[in-house]
Amino acid sequence: MFAQRLAQVAGSATLKAAAEAERLRRAGHDVVDFTAGEPDFPTPEHVKAAGKAAIDANFTRYTAAAGIPELREAISARYRRQYGIEVTAAEVLLTAGGKQALFNTALALFDPGDEVITHAPYWPTIPEQVKLVGAVPVVVPTRSEEGFAVHADAIAGAITSRTKAIILNSPCNPTGALIDEATLAPIVDAAARRGIWIIVDLCYEQLIYEPVPHNLPKVLFDRHRDRTVLAGSASKSYAMTGWRCGWTIAPKELTAAFNTIQGQTTSNIASMTQKAALAAVSGPQDAVTAMLNEYRTRRDSIHAWLTAYPAIRCVKPRGAFYLFPDISGLLSAGGVRTSADFAQALLEQEHVAVTAGEGFDAPGYLRISYATSMAQLREGATRILRFAESLQPARAGVSR
Ligand SMILES: Cc1ncc(COP(=O)(O)O)c(C=O)c1O
Repeated sequence: MFAQRLAQVAGSATLKAAAEAERLRRAGHDVVDFTAGEPDFPTPEHVKAAGKAAIDANFTRYTAAAGIPELREAISARYRRQYGIEVTAAEVLLTAGGKQALFNTALALFDPGDEVITHAPYWPTIPEQVKLVGAVPVVVPTRSEEGFAVHADAIAGAITSRTKAIILNSPCNPTGALIDEATLAPIVDAAARRGIWIIVDLCYEQLIYEPVPHNLPKVLFDRHRDRTVLAGSASKSYAMTGWRCGWTIAPKELTAAFNTIQGQTTSNIASMTQKAALAAVSGPQDAVTAMLNEYRTRRDSIHAWLTAYPAIRCVKPRGAFYLFPDISGLLSAGGVRTSADFAQALLEQEHVAVTAGEGFDAPGYLRISYATSMAQLREGATRILRFAESLQPARAGVSR
């Protein structure tokens, strides 16, 4: 009945987990919800004010499909400042979140049968969008023992004559791993030799905990700018998920193709959102720093609480706001065999909602969003540890 392309595509595991949590909450249970993929902070006051002022000034009509020139200019100026790359406003296009930025890219670049390389654990939208346009995701695994580091030779080794693009995500959802500049450079060189596009999802670029070199845009622009797409978003940095504002930075010709796609589909993103995003991008950045500092404190706390338990192993995330613990040591041949079983039983027994690793191509793991209050983190950690204990009460060396 429906188009073939839908047969290939899965729904969102994160949204499903969140819906389950909501169902229990409505049934009157005290649910600790660690599924959120969004900041728990309000949008900064000056950003909200700019959105409200836009409505009051009747800035409520269509804009150019690509977005208002001053916002495109402000975003290009931000990338010039932050990364030292030469970007013009003509290379920026405003999208309804990073999601549409990536989807425009998939529509404009991928033909049926094309291979698109990415790394796992991944944000599920990345391979699902590839499949939606009939292309084939080629997934290169990374290992928690190595901090989920992407290896250049593994990516280069996955290139075939059908490879059209490589999609990288740094900081990564769900692992919090960063891709180093030194890792990216040989990937870019391998792609440049074969005329392969590189798309970098920088949605969490402002949420990096330590001041480490992460100038991926510069590495790309220096070596491969004519086949580079950067996908950005205001959602996570500025706590603006509901406003729907993202962008692409891409060569002018590709940006023109995005403009055609968007002009025939959604047109511009909400006019008042654009004014709010302009205030966010070009106004004071203290709110971003304050949120990052708070995420860091939460990360350190929840990481310490959970890893005090011997059977839970967890890499400390370097960016974004998710913990991605390996709980395979708690699984057994009995009742709780998989991380999906674990997440389901944890929800039913302790009313703690997490997303199982299966959705991120990482069975044996859980994704815990720490974009929630310290009190919820403390309570949730206590319940998780109690649940873990209940799974292996008799096991030696696991007393607390
Ligand atoms: C890795 C990654 N990229 C992009 C996005 C897109 O977010 P938005 O469409 O709100 O900008 C998300 C959202 O969860 C994400 O986790």
